[in-house]
Amino acid sequence: MSRNIRGISVSDLTEVNAGLELKNLGHEIAMHDEAYHRNDAPIISDSEYDALRRRSHEIEKRFSHLVNLGSPSKAVGALVAAGFEKVAHNKPMLSLDNVFTEEQLGDFLKGVRRFLKELKDDTDIPLDMVAEPKIDGLSLSLSYEKGRLVYAATRGDGLVGEDVTENIKTLKNIPLILKGSAPDVIEVRGEVYLTKSDFQDLNQRQSESGDKVFANPRNAAAGSLRQLDPNVTATRPLKFFAYAYGNTLEPVAESQWEFLEFLKSWGFSVNPLTRLCQSQSDLIRAYNKIFEQRATLDYDIDGMVYKVNNITWQERLGAASRAPRWAIAHKFPAERAQTILKSINIQVGRTGTLTPVAQLHPVNVGGVIVTNATLHNEDEIERKDIRIGDTVVIQRAGDVIPQVVEVLRTKRPKSTVPFKMPKICPICKRPAVRTQDEAARRCTGGLVCSAQAIERLKHFVSRGAFDIEGLGGKNIIVFRENGLIKEPADIFRLHIHSDVIENLEGWGEKSAKKLFAAIEKRRRIPLARFIFALGIRQAGQATGQLLAKRYVSYQNWREAMIAANDCKSDAYFELTDIDGVGHSMAEDIIEFFKQSYNIKALESLTQQINIEKYVEPIRQNSQISGKSIVFTGTLASVTRGEAKARAESMGARVSGSLSKSTDFIIVGVDAGGKAKKAADLGVSILSESDWLRLLGE
Ligand code: IVH
Repeated sequence: MSRNIRGISVSDLTEVNAGLELKNLGHEIAMHDEAYHRNDAPIISDSEYDALRRRSHEIEKRFSHLVNLGSPSKAVGALVAAGFEKVAHNKPMLSLDNVFTEEQLGDFLKGVRRFLKELKDDTDIPLDMVAEPKIDGLSLSLSYEKGRLVYAATRGDGLVGEDVTENIKTLKNIPLILKGSAPDVIEVRGEVYLTKSDFQDLNQRQSESGDKVFANPRNAAAGSLRQLDPNVTATRPLKFFAYAYGNTLEPVAESQWEFLEFLKSWGFSVNPLTRLCQSQSDLIRAYNKIFEQRATLDYDIDGMVYKVNNITWQERLGAASRAPRWAIAHKFPAERAQTILKSINIQVGRTGTLTPVAQLHPVNVGGVIVTNATLHNEDEIERKDIRIGDTVVIQRAGDVIPQVVEVLRTKRPKSTVPFKMPKICPICKRPAVRTQDEAARRCTGGLVCSAQAIERLKHFVSRGAFDIEGLGGKNIIVFRENGLIKEPADIFRLHIHSDVIENLEGWGEKSAKKLFAAIEKRRRIPLARFIFALGIRQAGQATGQLLAKRYVSYQNWREAMIAANDCKSDAYFELTDIDGVGHSMAEDIIEFFKQSYNIKALESLTQQINIEKYVEPIRQNSQISGKSIVFTGTLASVTRGEAKARAESMGARVSGSLSKSTDFIIVGVDAGGKAKKAADLGVSILSESDWLRLLGE
């Protein structure tokens, strides 16, 4: 019976047969899952298995009321309607710093040598590096316990990701059970991607079924991974390359190279183009070779990643706020194409900046269709003399917004005229002005300008900030137009207007309740996210972290920022002393607190929410956690860079200058006047050996 039905195409199935077929498919898929996942002994090929899943999914799509009939979607039981659960990473998932030239690469390698004392003192000691292609996909964390996959999480903001375990179980080249002998606890990290050919096929299918087509393989991979229904993910042939580890209880390997070998032995795919390099010229050779091969590879890569091979050195090098010091990405040059600039739109950002955006005749730039490009500001337009009607060269590098590189003057039509930036905001019609020291023209509408207000609110609820699910840009505009949201605090009062919202177009009781639940979930927020959410100019996610770490509580931060208005105060000094907060950023933060409307908005917002204090990541009885430390003179055992990094990784704050609030000063050889000043201030003075004893070494 089932064999007969199997021969009928989905579009010809009767409802009765569809029900039977769905049930059969459910049983078969479950059986193959068991064979593949649990017994590690698949009975059918990947493509036969995919066909079963695709058929099941197509039937469900055509007969949606039959979904209950034991279909695989129920078997997996993972239709998480409310979105994905959040998972905190045991070790942050970092990003990478980039270099674009050999010279910058040289500086990076020198920096590594300068950090590690033995390499600094002896230039003959080789610094082996592993060169890996940089896969243009999404990073993923896979946690295994006693060899079994326990959960899979996306990177998220690096600290908290989304639990995508059920979806990941549908990927064929991720082992659910590790082969051979793996550590009891091991978190494997790597990249999920879609091959170029699978991407083409997927888009073909999408357009045939009238669904959304994706701009590039990376977006398609992201869209496929973040499906609420794992059955949909199962129809997308996502793949995975493993390249790093996260949380472990024991050392995993002595070198990156050895670790990659272990990964292979446990059943992971490791990129076959990875090379072990002994020198900078080896790295460049590997880079050039892969750059030439790039177009022939069936997956997108956007550069190379070079990693210090020695894992002890990796650990000693550690990480700065967002990227490790032991790895660097060497990006490929941007891809370029020519097209015609049709018009110039003006966008108004959340801080009022007017950004001219070129509207282009659609053009394919390295596999991505580009329709607009940023023109940055009016100086840029003037410098390049960019005019509407011009033929322009566009460049696109990775995730960066495409840019206009140059104008092809010989192709310029006669009728063009130089472009003039508007002197009024296109949205609120208030003057748009430019101060002497700024390249940007800004709308002076402030709170009155709806473009600014909308952008600020959008930022406030965005992923790295309050992360309110279901409250995207469109809803913010509608709620604002209906007078439901004027300032951030109103978001937390939206439930009062449930009757209005339920009656808005496209809304109902259920969807409104879902939104209110998502908002409720965000009444508690960590300080770092809160600071970022405020959208202060220049204060991004990393700044949020730095400020939270330094000031710990919201109250404390707020008071300090108000006090810092006096640029001779200790508070000002403390703010600019933070590594990563420059004077110009400090000015923007202080400016934010100078505006009474910001203070008012903060007051009503903080009545609605609970801002969690910054919590130091747990460290084993660190004696120096929370202490303020100054180093002076030359240390014998480690370089200054390593000493500072070590202290910071144990929770101390390392400062360049002494003050009353300094807890310890560590005095090396040839220390200058600081040691004496410390004695005057009553700061505890430690020798290098006292210091090492304090660290427990
Ligand atoms: S290592 C701490 N290796 O690039 C080091 N990353 O731009 C973490 N990526 O977030 C990353 N290929 O998603 C590493 N061979 C590779 C990679 C790779 C691609 C991605 C990864 C990372 C991003 C940073």
